[in-house]
Amino acid sequence: MSEAILTLAGVHTHIGEYHILQGVDMQVPRGGLSVLLGRNGAGKTTTLRTIMGLWKASQGKIHFDGRDITAMATPDIAQLGIAYVPESMAIFSDLTVKENLLLAARNGPLDSSRVEWICGFFPALKKFWNYPAGNLSGGQKQMVAIARAIVEPRKLILVDEPTKGLAPAIILSLMAAFNELKASDTTILLVEQNFNFVRKLGDTVAVMDDGRVVHTGSMQALAEDNDLQQHLLGLSLAAHQ
Ligand SMILES: Nc1ncnc2c1ncn2[C@@H]1O[C@H](COP(=O)(O)OP(=O)(O)OP(=O)(O)O)[C@@H](O)[C@H]1O
Ligand SMILES: [Mg+2]
Repeated sequence: MSEAILTLAGVHTHIGEYHILQGVDMQVPRGGLSVLLGRNGAGKTTTLRTIMGLWKASQGKIHFDGRDITAMATPDIAQLGIAYVPESMAIFSDLTVKENLLLAARNGPLDSSRVEWICGFFPALKKFWNYPAGNLSGGQKQMVAIARAIVEPRKLILVDEPTKGLAPAIILSLMAAFNELKASDTTILLVEQNFNFVRKLGDTVAVMDDGRVVHTGSMQALAEDNDLQQHLLGLSLAAHQ
């Protein structure tokens, strides 16, 4: 397995009086797609928010690309090359698709060849380029949200449940997009409940329960092991079946 670009070691997060993450240990290998599974309330979103510094770890260490980012401010973490696509798809409804991407580009004007590359796997963006993003369908909004995260090259993107509520055809185009991103050397950490989507995409998998990682391994091993799948699906996805 390749070297880890992101490491969480014994990470605890408190939200107010609640002790949510209770010692999360996780490694995300550089260049691959890692999947974070777990039942509702397991702590997946809290883990992504803690990586981004939106919640502060009360204990433990988070390292990214050789740096200790545990206590860093969110804008500084983003500046190191991590992008975050939250569950709620943070896009500007009143702005056009183009303006949404422009605002996400930190380094000045849009790179037209990169925009062409993104529109290659998300053609709807081209079609609605000058339309308010708020008028787009749920799946198209998700594409805008992901396009914002990758409008400039990033080392790591964190994506929270991108397939939630989407039709199968849209899920297929998201799958194509993640394969393109993998091929472009972007590391992806994907929170997902749709096991059929991630079993074909994921390189490694971590399963959370009650604020801890309770299983880590390769996605191939999980996809080929019915008993393990049964055990983990029962643990993690029963609420979704
Ligand atoms: N702002 C908050 N204040 C208090 N508790 C919170 C807050 N955000 C999350 N929690 C609690 O933290 C726990 C983990 O929540 P989190 O959103 O990380 O779960 P999740 O694994 O992403 O779940 P889901 O699959 O439903 O998105 C839950 O018990 C949740 O109620
Ligand atoms: Mg969540």
